[in-house]
Amino acid sequence: MERATVQFDKVTKKIGKKTIIDEISFSIAPGEVFGLLGPNGAGKTTALRMLTGLMKPTKGDIRLCGYSIQKDFEKAIQHVGAIIENPDLYSYLTGYQNLIHFARMSGKVNKERLTEIIALVGLAEAINDKVKTYSLGMRQRLGLAQALLHSPSLVVLDEPTNGLDPAGIGELRQYLKKIAHDEGVTVLVSSHLLSEMELLCDGIAIIQKGKILQIQKMQDIVKNSTLEEHFLEVTDR
Ligand SMILES: Nc1ncnc2c1ncn2[C@@H]1O[C@H](COP(=O)(O)OP(=O)(O)O)[C@@H](O)[C@H]1O
Ligand SMILES: [Mg+2]
Repeated sequence: MERATVQFDKVTKKIGKKTIIDEISFSIAPGEVFGLLGPNGAGKTTALRMLTGLMKPTKGDIRLCGYSIQKDFEKAIQHVGAIIENPDLYSYLTGYQNLIHFARMSGKVNKERLTEIIALVGLAEAINDKVKTYSLGMRQRLGLAQALLHSPSLVVLDEPTNGLDPAGIGELRQYLKKIAHDEGVTVLVSSHLLSEMELLCDGIAIIQKGKILQIQKMQDIVKNSTLEEHFLEVTDR
């Protein structure tokens, strides 16, 4: 069997006396678009912060491309491109200058790769404009280009559609599917909207109060409406 790109193994996070993440386990296959779905406060950002090394699990482990983030952090994290908070962009620089700046920090990026990524995220025409003239959707795509520059195996986006209009959401969805299906990149996104996850993801895990309630392949969900009922029931409380 092909090795999972992401493997959460009984991960728990406690802060003070509060259990924020409670023994969650799930795995994501290479090239899969996977959604972490749950209401505000469910623990999505905390889970993604642990995955990217911004926070340490209290118990359990996370493996990225087989490498433990606890024991082999450098090797594990080199596979990840992430946008956890808003992408760090300099608005007084052009899109291209932002990418060059970022490429210098990560080293191994050449001009061909830059051109390829700019085309992939649909910014070829605007790349020499200053970022302050960009729409939110364009900034998101520039952030995505940044995350993709070093050819990661995994891209992690925390609620990437927040603040985007429906057209921007549609575009982002199209680009995320494209990088997964054309570049074989594994995509992990979080959201509190089931409708959005249905359109984007191959599989989802439903998280509520730090616990995973259900893990589903999207094909099964379309056939079977219990998931939706389940989700509405839990968010009602
Ligand atoms: N640093 C922290 N200290 C204490 N509580 C926190 C901290 N970070 C998050 N929490 C709490 O953990 C829960 C999950 O938060 P979060 O992971 O941000 O959820 P989500 O991203 O799903 O909205 C919330 O109740 C939040 O208040
Ligand atoms: Mg969050």
